[in-house]
Amino acid sequence: MSAWGVVKTVFFTGLTLAFFFVIWIYNPFAHKETYELPEDVTKIIEDPKAALEGRNLFKQNCASCHSVRYDGMYLLSVETKPEWEKILKTMGRPIIEKKEGKVQVKGYYLPRDVYEAVALQDLENLKASFGKVPPDLSTIYLARGPGYLYQFILDPQKVLPGTSMPKLFFPEYDKEAPQKVAKIVAYLRSVSEPPPSEKAKRTVMGVVTVGYFVIMGVILWFYRKRLLEKMGLH
Ligand code: HEC
Repeated sequence: MSAWGVVKTVFFTGLTLAFFFVIWIYNPFAHKETYELPEDVTKIIEDPKAALEGRNLFKQNCASCHSVRYDGMYLLSVETKPEWEKILKTMGRPIIEKKEGKVQVKGYYLPRDVYEAVALQDLENLKASFGKVPPDLSTIYLARGPGYLYQFILDPQKVLPGTSMPKLFFPEYDKEAPQKVAKIVAYLRSVSEPPPSEKAKRTVMGVVTVGYFVIMGVILWFYRKRLLEKMGLH
């Protein structure tokens, strides 16, 4: 390769690397806002046991307005419909859970269109009361992150002024309130994250995919002359 060739290669490689660095690692154009998250709260959010307690807290405090379809959690008013069990079993996909080595059905996942058709009246009622259908929270953790969720659930108006989401926890009267909110965030996190076995599978998939491209690249590099000759280009 000529000196000029080397300069060109270095220049374009550098440009490509800089581009992906900006897009993936340090993006100065991305909107960033930080929400305070005390350290003990972070610990609770990452604790799988807290997530289990958070599930109950969610059912008591939030399931009157919000569903978490990925976890088989639906509006309480929908779950009291007489035909509900049948709909779940005929239209739903079982959500499997391993508990002490035993496989159990934890609930049923319903496709969004089916759920919304069944829950239409309930969702309309909520919309009439709050101006907006409270969103399904299956992936809200991925969208908003722990800091936002913790602060928002503690005090919705502070984070999203004018929102119709009510304040449900009052640290002034309930000393446990911050921990309860943290447990709910832990629950939302546990729902949005795939189980460890699934995560491991994805990592292996990623490594195999990248490995394939590297090996193919090396093979092509070694055989480039012969390939070009075959194509009549050399
Ligand atoms: C009385 C109904 C009601 C209850 C109970 C309720 N919410 Fe909401 N929630 C809403 C409404 C309405 C919205 C949409 C607000 C908006 O977009 O302004 C909302 C929005 C949200 C959002 C989305 C915020 C965003 O940035 O998009 C989250 C997260 C949330 N609620 C969490 C919870 C949790 C956790 C609980 C239980 C502790 C809960 N909600 C209980 C009505 C409710």
